[in-house]
Amino acid sequence: MLAHPDPPSPRAWWKSAIVYQIYPTSFFDSNGDGIGDLNGIHAKLDYLKDLGVDVVWLSPIYCSPLADMGYDISDYRNIDPRYGTLEDWDNLLQGAHQRGMKLMMDLVVNHTSDEHEWFLQSKSGKDNPKRDWYIWRPGKQVDGKRLPPNNWKSVFQGSAWDYDENTKEYYLHLYVSKQPDLNWDNPDVRDAVWDVMRFWINRGCDGFRMDVINIISKVEGLPDAPVVDASQYYQSASMHFANGPRVHEYIKQMHAEVLSKHDLITVGETPFTHDASQLAAYVLPQNKELNMVFNFELMDLDSPDYSPLVRKAWTLAEFKDVIRRWQQFKRDEGYWNTVFIENHDHARSVSRFGNDSNEWRAISAKMLCILEVTLTGTLYIYQGQELGLKNFPRSWGLEEYKDVASQNYYNLVKVQRQKAEGKEDVDMSDLLDHFQQKARDHARTPMQWDSSPNGGFTTGEPWMRVNDDYANWNAAAQLQDPDSVYAFWKHAIEVRKQHDVLVYGSFELKLPEHQQVFAYTRVLGDSEAIVVMNFGVNEAEIDPARLGDLDGCLLILGNYGASRDDGGGRLNLRGYEGRVYLKQN
Ligand code: GLC
Ligand code: CA
Repeated sequence: MLAHPDPPSPRAWWKSAIVYQIYPTSFFDSNGDGIGDLNGIHAKLDYLKDLGVDVVWLSPIYCSPLADMGYDISDYRNIDPRYGTLEDWDNLLQGAHQRGMKLMMDLVVNHTSDEHEWFLQSKSGKDNPKRDWYIWRPGKQVDGKRLPPNNWKSVFQGSAWDYDENTKEYYLHLYVSKQPDLNWDNPDVRDAVWDVMRFWINRGCDGFRMDVINIISKVEGLPDAPVVDASQYYQSASMHFANGPRVHEYIKQMHAEVLSKHDLITVGETPFTHDASQLAAYVLPQNKELNMVFNFELMDLDSPDYSPLVRKAWTLAEFKDVIRRWQQFKRDEGYWNTVFIENHDHARSVSRFGNDSNEWRAISAKMLCILEVTLTGTLYIYQGQELGLKNFPRSWGLEEYKDVASQNYYNLVKVQRQKAEGKEDVDMSDLLDHFQQKARDHARTPMQWDSSPNGGFTTGEPWMRVNDDYANWNAAAQLQDPDSVYAFWKHAIEVRKQHDVLVYGSFELKLPEHQQVFAYTRVLGDSEAIVVMNFGVNEAEIDPARLGDLDGCLLILGNYGASRDDGGGRLNLRGYEGRVYLKQN
């Protein structure tokens, strides 16, 4: 018997797949209107294939008034004209399949747009058959004043309820007013969602990323949230909607009705909770729900509670602890992880967890790549991460932050300060300091393809400003340069694909007390990988014996090229150096 048997859960194509997330609006504009589009993505399929991508995930491209950049959908069965047509989508799918890649769609069904036909009907009258497709409630009378049905705060600020003058009731929207929540307790709503999924599956799509899928079931009676912030009337209410009472019943039904009939890749987005046992329930194979979820414990590390736009200092000890726990979590029961450090809702990883100064940017981006390719789980790369794209600079003003979350939060704080200080002109510079580090906008600047104007993203006026560094930090330059972040990612992906131990092996933390070095081993059958990374600019010296026996090990990946002789039996890691050794036992 081997000490470390093959993984307890079977291997699967979607486990070893490299998924690449595209934010279509900012990827590549094929017709000069300043907005990325499907034909633009089609034109870059070879770029993706070359990098080693297996699955392309598209953020929403459906018809949308763009109240929340497409996460507010007014027609699930059509492509918004700004991105192209259904025919363009078919061509894109074909192009991906011809190259042996798969295409995954974003399924946004906790809410629709308020311009969706379902909602227009629902709000047209209390007797409309679709009235109950959304969550309508009468207001509350308090001291002769009409108030929303409860004190829930919307995720993007203000009350989670909007009043409809026509029918004299409020509807629930956990995000902005233009994103009314569907009533999943109504079986017709669920059937309609299964139909949308079948529509795309029949067209050939290979899977779904499911937007905020853990908030579709709200607590019975929609009770007030506890008052945690006494300075506000509206309170965070995620305890009443995250992992709600019937969510697993609904996802099991989705599995039985739709997912079980196809070989799809499925990943649920599950924010507002770090509760491991709750998250496990979506993923454990015996539950027959989803392949995996995006849990946000790592991504929330540098924010105080409920404030994603505020930066909190993080420590490597916390970082290691979160990763270790999830890497080891219910492995024997078949829990499967997602490995990701960027997406369209977070600032750039090299700016958050690496070091984006000129001196360290490339080397630390490569080290974060080493981290990503040596963890167990399905690996997700976000567009531009493979180039080491970083946050845009502090000198950019508020007007460059296009995201509704940034704008709303800024305005809310501004009004509060104006009230408190009794004057119009209040200092907001500290907020911009935080935004420069944390806003979602940093992930949404256009891709930097080459050194031509606007980074070659568009021949027109880009919908959002391109980061200032595009002239020398772009894909064309990096494709030419064997030392680039891109070249490193491409190579690192090959290494991951050659060594199953990196995808499926067990995880053991080494040097747990070290403040600057993150080290671990991965074991599968008779292969062992030893990973060691220095999360700082100063050299770090470690005793290699603490990593196990390095004798006879092969260096299979390192961001400083060939390893130098460390001498004296010690291991000296240079600033942001990362190494992966392999041993056959
Ligand atoms: C998800 C999306 C985010 C969006 C929100 C509301 O978190 O990733 O971009 O704003 O859902 O749909
Ligand atoms: Ca376009």
